[in-house]
Order: sequence, then C-alpha cells, then structure tokens
Amino acid sequence: MAVNVRGRNYLKLLDYTPEEIRYLLDLSKEFKNMKRNGVPHRYLENKNIVLLFEKTSTRTRCAFEVAGMDLGMGVTYLDPGSSQMGKKESIADTARVLGRMYDGIEYRGFDQKIVDELAEYAGVPVWNGLTDQFHPTQMLADLLTLEEKFGRLKGLNFTYMGDARNNMGNSLMVACAKMGINFTACAPKELFPAEVSRAREIAGKNGCTVRLTEDIDQGAKDADAVYTDIWVSMGEPDEVWGTRIKLLRGYQVNAEVMKKAKPSAIFMHCLPSFHDTNTTIGAEIAKKFGINEMEVTNEVFESRQSVVFDEAENRMHTIKAVIYATLC
Ligand code: CP
Ligand code: NVA
Repeated sequence: MAVNVRGRNYLKLLDYTPEEIRYLLDLSKEFKNMKRNGVPHRYLENKNIVLLFEKTSTRTRCAFEVAGMDLGMGVTYLDPGSSQMGKKESIADTARVLGRMYDGIEYRGFDQKIVDELAEYAGVPVWNGLTDQFHPTQMLADLLTLEEKFGRLKGLNFTYMGDARNNMGNSLMVACAKMGINFTACAPKELFPAEVSRAREIAGKNGCTVRLTEDIDQGAKDADAVYTDIWVSMGEPDEVWGTRIKLLRGYQVNAEVMKKAKPSAIFMHCLPSFHDTNTTIGAEIAKKFGINEMEVTNEVFESRQSVVFDEAENRMHTIKAVIYATLC
C-alpha cells in the first residue's frame, strides 16, 4: 500500500513505521536534488506555518524557515519569551489559537508532554523541533547522511558515545532500531538510554541489535559511524557541568577512539559542539575545569572523517520533506 502521512503529527520516530521513514528519506532526496538543480518547488503557496521556540536554535529554526519559504509558505517565528504560551496562556489554548491561523506548528521546548498536548488541541500537524526526550527532525537528517555516505542503512554499526540518556541518545537508538542499524550506546551506566527494552523489541523485528556498554574498546570496535553530542543539554542547570565532565571525560571522541572504529568510519554530531574554546561556554569551561575540548577533539571534528556539516545541511532537506508530506 502507498505510504501517506498527510495530516499526521511528527512528534517522535516511535510513531512512524520503517516504511514511512523510508518514504520521508526518499522525499528528502528529491527535494535535495531539486534545490541543488535550482528547480522551484513552491508547492505549498497560500499555506502558513508558525515556529514556536522555547529554547534557542540555529539549525532547526533556519531549516524550518528556509524549507517553508522554498515551499512558498508564510513563516512566523516566535522566539523564547515572545509568546504568551505557558506564562499567560495554557498549552491547550495556545494550540487552539495557532491552529485557527496556521496550517502547521513547529515546537521546540522542554517536556515531550508539551508537544503532545499542542498536537492534541491544534487540529493541524505539529512537528517536534526538539524536546528534552526526543529530536525527531534531527533523525531524518542523520539517516539521510548515513545513507549518502554508505549507500545503505541496514547492517551498519552505529556507536553513540557520551550522554546517551538525552534527547539525542534516545532518538538515535530508536532511529537505528527502526532502520535495521546495529546501535551501541557507549556511556557510563548512569547515562545509559531509557526504554532500551522497547528499542530492542523494534530492533528484533528489523534484524538489528541494541547494545549498551561502558567499555570504550567494545563500544567503538567495528563502528561505521561514531556519534556524540554535548555533555550538558539545553534546559539543564549549570551546576551539572562538574559531575558530567567527571562522568564523560573518558568518553570523548578523539583520534584514539576513531582508530578503534573501522578505517572507513565517519564522525557525526548534531551540533552545536564544544570542540574548542571559541564559544562563551567553551571558554568558561576551559577556565573552570581546565579542558579545551569536550565531547570531541578539534582534530576529529575537523578531520576528513567528520560529516557534521553534511548533517546540518540535511536538516533543511529532511524538514522540507516532513512539512510537505504532512501538509500536502
Ligand atoms: N542540531 C540542532 O538541533 O541544532 P540547533 O539547536 O541549532 O537547532
Ligand atoms: N542534546 C542537545 C541537542 C542539541 C541539538 C540539547 O538538547 O541541547
């Protein structure tokens, strides 16, 4: 049967079948080709979307804005603090107001329950642009990048190193399990992902595995892709830096770690990244804790194995596919 996701929300990858994810990836490739070849694709003229951000963003905001404009749509951006939501107006009321004016709503913020509630009341598709628990639009960009680099997804070995219980760890575990990629979380046990049994069940159906290990040799061995994310995520208090650095210092992705992976391995990161001290936080941490590079060394970040800017570009093509597929 043909895949059709029209009118659907995009809240987490768990809600989508492997066939639906495949459809969104194929559509992303078509949009990428059109963009690269200068073929206009203003398929959604006269439609409007709103982007609701309660946390900051570069990639997700710009990807939604450019994707919306390329599709011929009107785009409204509401920054953290400039809407009434939460402070003077409930989530349910905000959803019902925005749903009367817009054809789709993007939300970035805190608890997954907020984006779920928006979706329940909006009456138009709601897209999750990152919550504390999941980052589903990033997943499509990462899957597309993997497929572009290796020509396939099934059977790849994917290792996530670092804070594996955050939005990225959870989402990547599910994305891999759905698409037949062997997933390894390499992290201290305090930071292992949640809901591993559900991911294992999904992986079982798709012929792949979900592994957890604290051991770096085991974790990086035979990896096709090594992925990491910042050690303290948006919304977490500054006080956690000390303990997080202690827990994760040994899990930094450096040249030694990349040597343990396959020679053809790629390095991935959702960005932003603390790979040097050229940021306010990077400089503060260097001063306070004496480390100049955190989750990845500058050497690996800048190496030929690094595909981080391909992932960033792919955010736009894949978000365009999600908007188009759910609205058209
Ligand atoms: N990867 C990602 O979501 O980046 P932004 O926080 O800049 O949107
Ligand atoms: N885990 C990070 C991802 C940023 C794209 C955060 O939530 O801040």
